[in-house]
Amino acid sequence: MTDRIDGEAVAADVRADLQSAVDSVADRGHRPTLATVLMSPDPASETYVSMKQRDCEELGIDTRDVELDLDEPAEALFDVIEELNRDDDVDGILVQSPVPDHVDYREVLERIDPEKDVDGFHPENVGRLVAGYPRYKPCTPHGIQKLLDATDVDTEGKEAVIVGRSRIVGKPMANLFIQKAPGGNATTTVCHSRTEDLAAKTRRADILVAAAGIPEFIDGSMLSPGVVVIDVGINRVDADTEKGYELVGDVDFESAAGKASAITPVPGGVGPMTRAMLLYNTVKATGRQADIEVELP
Ligand code: GUN
Repeated sequence: MTDRIDGEAVAADVRADLQSAVDSVADRGHRPTLATVLMSPDPASETYVSMKQRDCEELGIDTRDVELDLDEPAEALFDVIEELNRDDDVDGILVQSPVPDHVDYREVLERIDPEKDVDGFHPENVGRLVAGYPRYKPCTPHGIQKLLDATDVDTEGKEAVIVGRSRIVGKPMANLFIQKAPGGNATTTVCHSRTEDLAAKTRRADILVAAAGIPEFIDGSMLSPGVVVIDVGINRVDADTEKGYELVGDVDFESAAGKASAITPVPGGVGPMTRAMLLYNTVKATGRQADIEVELP
């Protein structure tokens, strides 16, 4: 029997657990506030940002919504970030990526106040994560840790194989898996576009995290029986639907499910967890900046 890992349900539990933290901060006169900044050429970004805002509103987290035209100069974006950094009412700042080519995303990340960097992408926060004392764990890999924990998958001593080495998923996931901490202690392999004989590596996996951004890149023939498959991919592929596309993961679900003991669907697996952990980081950021102790799940 293959267990279908329900990210919506686990994310709902995380949100419910966060509600009391939001309420207790609000009782002390501080309403958590997340600012989202959208200047993205990817049409999916607008949807992602509006979903993140809706999640916040449902929990009683205030939002600021800043949108810039794609042809505005990088300085306009930097000015927005500077203003949000200085605004004491703003606890968290998220600049949705990708940004247009004329904007250096690295500089964007470096300009966000690390205390408000709820993505956990600022070099200071990346450094802290690598060194083993994270401030804000990046949302997708943190969500995957929570999902594995909720599914009673113990990572300790296991072979974790990550396909993809992005700043957002692959690299921080590897760092979390190798931490000497709950959800870590895994023997971790990171595969990428230059990896030779990928299937030989993926077949070693007890836990496989697919985050290559390539539709249905991993299929059942590349997996060993009993593997736990976490599919991070959300790829729009042309389809004869109302919208003209459908969403598929980085894993070919049918063939992978034939091998896996547990697998995340797309959608409804990792995506909701990423959003839930953004709420988590926003509440954490609020506590840190308002100097209020908050209890986090
Ligand atoms: N683009 C895709 N995923 C993310 C994310 O987690 N954070 C930000 N800021 N941009 C993204």
